[in-house]
Amino acid sequence: MLAATLLLGLRNRPAHSLLICTFNRGTQGLSRHAARTCAVSARAPLSTSCTRRQSEASKIESKTLDVLGTAYATDDWTNTPPAILAKTGRNLLHQPSHPLAILKELIFKEFPTFAHYDSLSPVVSTHQNFDSLGFAQDHPGRSKTDTYYVNQNTLLRTHTSAHQLQLLAAISQGEHNVLMQAKNNFAAPRNERFLVAADVYRRDEIDASHYPVFHQMEGVCTFSREEVRDKIRQATTAERDSRTGDACHSDQVAQMVDATVVGEDNPMQSAHSAEEVAFLVKNMKQAMNDMVVQILTKAVAAQQSSGEVSASGSQTQFPVRWIDAYFPFTSPSWEMEVLFQGEWLEICGCGVMKQEILNQAGMPDRIGWAFGFGLERLAMLLFGVHDIRLFWSSDSRFVGQFSPGRINSFRPFSRHPSCAKDVSFWLPAESTFHENDIMDLVRETAGDLVEGVKLIDSFTHPKTGKGSRCYRINYCSMDRNVTNEEINVVQELVRKRMVEQLGVTLR
Ligand code: DAH
Repeated sequence: MLAATLLLGLRNRPAHSLLICTFNRGTQGLSRHAARTCAVSARAPLSTSCTRRQSEASKIESKTLDVLGTAYATDDWTNTPPAILAKTGRNLLHQPSHPLAILKELIFKEFPTFAHYDSLSPVVSTHQNFDSLGFAQDHPGRSKTDTYYVNQNTLLRTHTSAHQLQLLAAISQGEHNVLMQAKNNFAAPRNERFLVAADVYRRDEIDASHYPVFHQMEGVCTFSREEVRDKIRQATTAERDSRTGDACHSDQVAQMVDATVVGEDNPMQSAHSAEEVAFLVKNMKQAMNDMVVQILTKAVAAQQSSGEVSASGSQTQFPVRWIDAYFPFTSPSWEMEVLFQGEWLEICGCGVMKQEILNQAGMPDRIGWAFGFGLERLAMLLFGVHDIRLFWSSDSRFVGQFSPGRINSFRPFSRHPSCAKDVSFWLPAESTFHENDIMDLVRETAGDLVEGVKLIDSFTHPKTGKGSRCYRINYCSMDRNVTNEEINVVQELVRKRMVEQLGVTLR
């Protein structure tokens, strides 16, 4: 488990800037899965013995895979297990009392002039998820170890950015069947600004803040070049300063810090003028700062009115910082981070949209910015929810605490005892073992009984050269007491499946 945080696109960054990004533990939703893939060969999917063994063992025998009522042909790439498929129909964002849905509505309200989408299918093409956004062919995010494939050309979206080109093209070509899926202003003549809230899927590690399904909010805002020219003309010289830190401001609850500059390390695109970039960046950062201040202010108010010390502790001030980033589909690019309980949490990525995307969509006369927020981290902060699994709970002690439009602090119900079990094994010879295979296997076997899986020991035998690993699996139910006997049965099954599916030798 690497503590490093790299963004989806960081593989293409110059080595020196990679270092900058290794100090924090980023938010799920934006970057983690790409980080770990750095340890494997970029073209890992089909060529390694470990991956092959895993996919053979867990291969879905059926020739088709049913996702949300549609049958898709399976192939060597199919790696989406039943427990993940079952999540595709849960629609947490459509349950008005669910904390994630409440947060979604809160953000939608902050952007009333944008079209709001929250019903786009999670099944997308590899073209939508990667190619349309300029991901390199060997980008590690495409790997089977990181992504749930339905088949070679179809996958469960790994991020909401997968819909950028599709929606822009639909706007530009007036495709009403697509545009009508917007909840609010689909009837507006043309709206080149939109938000997409959706569930996204990534093979990931297991702990209190990572879950293989989570939610993101994508924002896309475009302007005609003419409109931007007029606005620039009206602006004062001071406002034209290309120092992007101008957009930062402080508030009682959030203290924004932005020392970033557009330059060699975070360059503008040749298709844009410096004035256009300065305008877009300022506009984007202002919108995002305002939104984050709104959310943090509500989080503090909820905490104060509950009189409880919740997961957000007694924190009433939140330093927020902007840092340089890299994404294949924006330049310049940034991340926004919030200091929460002593840890910098990455809550979103954003930047000036690559002009190729707008050109491809049939909008060469427009320029724009985009962002992607991870909703779980913000919701944990907003509602004081301490364990990401709770968002999937149907326990009335959880769901009964929330109501539409209301931000309140979650009152944790008593924690059930947890139980740790270790499993040690030798890796198969010439293996390119990937720990996400273990994560999926444990999740498939134990479901939400598993609270965390952690590598606790790793070594190579000096004589045989064999690799050894020891993982600690923490079992803890969110809603009931579990007996040791019950856990032993699950653990035995995990061990058996590890031998069968991953080819390891238990120690
Ligand atoms: N899709 C990115 C991710 O999941 C987040 C992101 C970054 C979205 C920059 C954007 C953006 O729209 O401009 O890691």
